[in-house]
Amino acid sequence: MSVLLSINHLGVALPPDADRPWALRDLSLDLRYNEIMCVVGESGSGKSMTASAIMGLLPERVQPTQGSITFEGRDLLQLTQEELRQWRGARIGMIFQDPMTALNPLHRVGDQIAEMFLTHRPKLTRQDVDARVLRLLEDVHIPDPTATVRAYPHQLSGGQRQRIGLARALAVEPKILVADEPVSALDVSVQAQVLALLTDLRQRLGLSLIFITHDLRVAAQVCDRIIVMKSGKIVEQGPTYQVYQQPQHAYTRQLLEATPGREWQVSAA
Ligand SMILES: Nc1ncnc2c1ncn2[C@@H]1O[C@H](COP(=O)(O)OP(=O)(O)OP(=O)(O)O)[C@@H](O)[C@H]1O
Ligand SMILES: [Mg+2]
Repeated sequence: MSVLLSINHLGVALPPDADRPWALRDLSLDLRYNEIMCVVGESGSGKSMTASAIMGLLPERVQPTQGSITFEGRDLLQLTQEELRQWRGARIGMIFQDPMTALNPLHRVGDQIAEMFLTHRPKLTRQDVDARVLRLLEDVHIPDPTATVRAYPHQLSGGQRQRIGLARALAVEPKILVADEPVSALDVSVQAQVLALLTDLRQRLGLSLIFITHDLRVAAQVCDRIIVMKSGKIVEQGPTYQVYQQPQHAYTRQLLEATPGREWQVSAA
């Protein structure tokens, strides 16, 4: 399968007062067309930093020091602020653990999705935008789209808010969706619905996903390939069934043993 985004030998340094000198060290990975790639690892292992580096959203004082992130023929680390603004959201969308991170509590959800079109597709008529917003709400299985466009985020459940975040992230048809712990804050039954929606959208839209989770059961449900991180480095990567059934690294075995239950075990593809 063809490679869509490629991270090569990425190093990201932390400020001198941090608990370690680097957030990421010599990180290399390929995201392929239409695949769901999971990034797992303990807290502080660098999962969110990997997402932030791709999105050009590294915190202040946290800097890439080496390597590249290649996407559509460009090194994302070399983009100017203006290029980043145009590109972010349009080519690579993002959703977060807490959908409120991306949503404004004071604005109606319909307007917040419409905003993506106003920013990235300014030539569309208002009528077109409204129709597309409704269609997106249907795509993410919001029960009553016409009523929901007028709702404020706090009037929705956590699962519905995550669907709105998803509609917003997918509005202008990005090729890649970066999802940082997108279901961790949801009840297990709602988790399953959102995971099913993500896998369905991946097929229908030809999306590739970078799916960050600390939950190996969740990863087993959705991922084609899995990347295991520890202390800012990749310790192991491979097809999900392979990593789960024949973990090569002691740390991977440790993570698997720490995950209770057996029902989540993946079967060989
Ligand atoms: N804003 C920041 N400034 C300085 N260091 C940071 C900042 N955010 C994270 N770090 C450090 O960067 C490293 C990687 O953090 P990261 O947030 O990527 O971990 P994570 O794998 O996403 O963990 P979690 O599962 O808790 O979300 C950690 O050592 C962390 O302390
Ligand atoms: Mg994180």
